[in-house]
Order: sequence, then C-alpha cells, then structure tokens
Amino acid sequence: MTTSTSHLAGPATVATPQIAVISASVRADRMCPSIADWVVGALTPDATVDLIDLAEVTLPDDSLLYPGGGPKSEVAGRIEAAEAFVFVTPEYNHSYPASLKRLIDWHYSEWELKPATIVGYGVYGGHSAIEHLRGVLAELSVVTTRRVLGLSQPWEHLSEDGGYTPDEGAARGLAATVAELIWWAEVLTDARTNRPRPGQS
Ligand SMILES: Cc1cc2nc3c(=O)[nH]c(=O)nc-3n(C[C@H](O)[C@H](O)[C@H](O)COP(=O)(O)O)c2cc1C
Repeated sequence: MTTSTSHLAGPATVATPQIAVISASVRADRMCPSIADWVVGALTPDATVDLIDLAEVTLPDDSLLYPGGGPKSEVAGRIEAAEAFVFVTPEYNHSYPASLKRLIDWHYSEWELKPATIVGYGVYGGHSAIEHLRGVLAELSVVTTRRVLGLSQPWEHLSEDGGYTPDEGAARGLAATVAELIWWAEVLTDARTNRPRPGQS
C-alpha cells in the first residue's frame, strides 16, 4: 500500500540550529549586553548564534512603516536566517522597551512560525515585560516557550569587568529554557518546510 506523504517529505532539521539573540536595551549605560553575552555563552555549544544588539541597529523611519513591515531593514536578512530567537529584555514601566517594539514591527514574515524564548530582567524579574512580549509575538505566529527566565536585580551579579555571573539556579533555568527552545526550533523548521499552513496550498 502506498500512502501520500507530500506534506511529510522528511525532516528539514539541522543538527545545529541558527539562533538570533536579540539584546533589547539601547541605553548608553545599559546592562543588557552583559546578560546577552551570558545567554550566547550558554547557547554556543548547541547552536550557531547571531547576537543582534539593538543599539547597533538603525531602523528606517517609522513614517515608512506599513502593516506587515515596510522597506527591508538592515537586519531583515539576519532575522530571516534565524530558526529561533532569544529576546533579552529589561522591563521599562511594566513592559518591554520601545526599541524592541520597533524591531518587531519592522519585520513580519521574518518572524513567522519560529520559536522564541525570553530572558527578562528587572527589579522583580521583568515578568510584566515578558508577558507583554508573549502576546505581541503570538500575533506574528511566533511560538514562545512555556519556560522563560526572569532575572531579579541582575545588576547585583555583575563582576568588575561587566560580566554577568548569576547563581547556579539561573544557569539551570537558562539551560532548561534553551533545551525547550531548541526542541521547538527542530519541530518548526521541519514544519515550515513540510507542512502547509491552514488556508495555504
Ligand atoms: C525608563 C525605565 C523604566 C523602568 N521601569 C521599570 C519597571 O517598570 N520595572 C522594573 O522592574 N524595572 C524598571 N526599570 C529599571 C530597569 O530594570 C533597570 O534600570 C535595568 O538596568 C534596565 O536595563 P538596561 O540597563 O539594560 O537598560 C526601569 C528603567 C528605565 C530606564
């Protein structure tokens, strides 16, 4: 007996997923890069990592923005190339920074049907920023992991050279979160290749 497998043409997964780590804060004396570097270090054995520091990204003027994006930004190709995302974000006034919202709004298909996790931080772990970000990412068909990481007062764990050196619990939490992200990356990379979305041929 033969079975039609046109939508199951075999796994498209790669052993080493391509993950973009997005460092959201653009303040002059921000601590975001310290945490982003820590995340990159944790990912590096299992992934090819592209660190996108929003302080180094110039997006087009918002007057050019359209629903679903606008002119291609200078980082559109890097977001497109990623199979998964880690958003490293502080909490500002109960949410995530405007710099990150602009990056999200300036792209559309580049995000779709990919997984993301969130490393938030703030006085009490940045969970308001994390949960606000989840809702926005859902609109872009980005699947966020169940596990996320909320770091409380991470500035207490900065070494003299600016390195972020948290306790063992944070490292274990990050490892579990990354494992979940990589599982989703494999699943969704395969799905984007082999499974038509509802309403698409
Ligand atoms: C504009 C602004 C608003 C903030 N609002 C919050 C907040 O709502 N909750 C919180 O826990 N921390 C808040 N903070 C404190 C930040 O968590 C802290 O300054 C952190 O270092 C910011 O990350 P960054 O240094 O990478 O920019 C705020 C900081 C700024 C600059």
